[in-house]
Amino acid sequence: MMTDDLKSVLFTEEQIATRVAELGAELTRDYAGKNPLVVGILKGASVFTTDIVRKIETPLQIDFMVVSSYGAGTKTSGTVKIRKDLDTDVRDRHVIICEDIIDSGVTMSNLFALLETRKPASLKLCALLSKPARREVDVKIDYCGWEVPDEFLVGYGLDYAEHYRNLPCIGVLKPEIYS
Ligand code: IMP
Ligand code: MG
Repeated sequence: MMTDDLKSVLFTEEQIATRVAELGAELTRDYAGKNPLVVGILKGASVFTTDIVRKIETPLQIDFMVVSSYGAGTKTSGTVKIRKDLDTDVRDRHVIICEDIIDSGVTMSNLFALLETRKPASLKLCALLSKPARREVDVKIDYCGWEVPDEFLVGYGLDYAEHYRNLPCIGVLKPEIYS
């Protein structure tokens, strides 16, 4: 069982469903009539993105990006590498970035700097999880599921070496698995 590799379960499938529905309701209120573009960051946020869009009860579009950042602690922008860009022109669009977890903040900080140059009408961040203890650069999380302790988490899209993304819960991986 995949769950045998967990030290503990942080959020059950039911708890995640409840929180995702709450965030979806907030987004429904804030984006009614705005035809937002919801951008999921692959692969980590794939599960979160496809769940939350079904809880946003207003017309929207979906797109995905694959990005990777060079080196934690990078202060300059432009260090985000786009491996798959958007198919959609974001100029004058209300864009909601969906991310699985904000750790150092480097990836999102760089991605936001890049997307701002494309002149969206608005650009907001919706992150299921945030690890404040690990933050190196300031990132404003407009919609946040939970703040979590500084432990390595897997499940619900989060992976360790590409494993565990399909776990329906979010748990702390046993240290012996990755040491
Ligand atoms: P950062 O905020 O630029 O440091 O990068 C965040 C990215 O690191 C996330 O999108 C995840 O892919 C990955 N990440 C951070 N913490 C975890 C974790 O606990 N489990 C799995 N992936 C993580
Ligand atoms: Mg990720």
